[in-house]
Amino acid sequence: MPRIAYVNGRYLPLAQAQVHIEDRGYQFADGVYEVVPLYRGRLLDEEPHLDRFAYSLRELEIAPPMSRAALKLVLHELVRCNAMSDALLYFQATRGVAPRDHKFPAGAKTAFVATMRRSRPPSAAQIEQGVSVVTMPDIRWERCDIKSISLLPNLLAKQKAAAAGAFEAWLVDDDDRITEGSSTNAWIVTSDGKLVTHDAGAAILNGITRQRVIKLVESRGITFEQRAFSRDEAMHAREAFLSSSSSFVLPITRIDGKPVGEGRPGPVTRQLREIYVTAALETPILA
Ligand code: PDD
Repeated sequence: MPRIAYVNGRYLPLAQAQVHIEDRGYQFADGVYEVVPLYRGRLLDEEPHLDRFAYSLRELEIAPPMSRAALKLVLHELVRCNAMSDALLYFQATRGVAPRDHKFPAGAKTAFVATMRRSRPPSAAQIEQGVSVVTMPDIRWERCDIKSISLLPNLLAKQKAAAAGAFEAWLVDDDDRITEGSSTNAWIVTSDGKLVTHDAGAAILNGITRQRVIKLVESRGITFEQRAFSRDEAMHAREAFLSSSSSFVLPITRIDGKPVGEGRPGPVTRQLREIYVTAALETPILA
């Protein structure tokens, strides 16, 4: 069965799904996106993803492509058409089609596309042994809170990490603090046992997985801090992990080649992954 995409009002086989070459997303990366995990038939944290989509659109003054209710209908229909159980639902809106001009076009209609692909979740070995990250300068702009499709610095970082044999890049700001990964949020358990992740703000994308982990942590009375942490603190951490819609909670056992703690996933990370997955399975299955 071919994968089905949604393109500006139509559901089409992926191979026939096309956009105009003067779409501002194509020419300027003038758009925003979301990735929502479908986990065992459950669309995880759909509402927070839609909230963040609305926020990104608002911050860039892009008109919503449709009402929130219509958007949900379109996304649910796409999930139904594709009949997948574990997948990533991708959708993006751009400022529309217009002759190339940096200024916002008058009267352009927001373009909207959505696709799905089966997810490639972390392997059992990655979950049991952890993955490695390498640090590198964060060369992104000052509005990383917007989920913009303009991702070149993220791509360069991820590619550099892959070339170094690492799973992810951890990005370091001018004050030597870790902001986040190229497509994941960054967490540590410090040498004195505190769970820490960078505070939400313009320096990071406020991950939906991050937000969910924070809620789970709070509801269990686990103390944690939202603040920047230095590369040095990370190098001396007991535990480290990343969070994202595609990896959930994934242990990190090497930073720049050096083992984190004892070089094995730690108890806090393991517990958080477990409670995240348990909570995910409590999400109702999409009808
Ligand atoms: N990446 N930070 C960045 C820069 C990201 O791109 C992402 C998500 C995250 C984690 O956010 P969330 O928990 O909402 O997935 C953090 C997505 C999955 C992507 O670009 O494919």
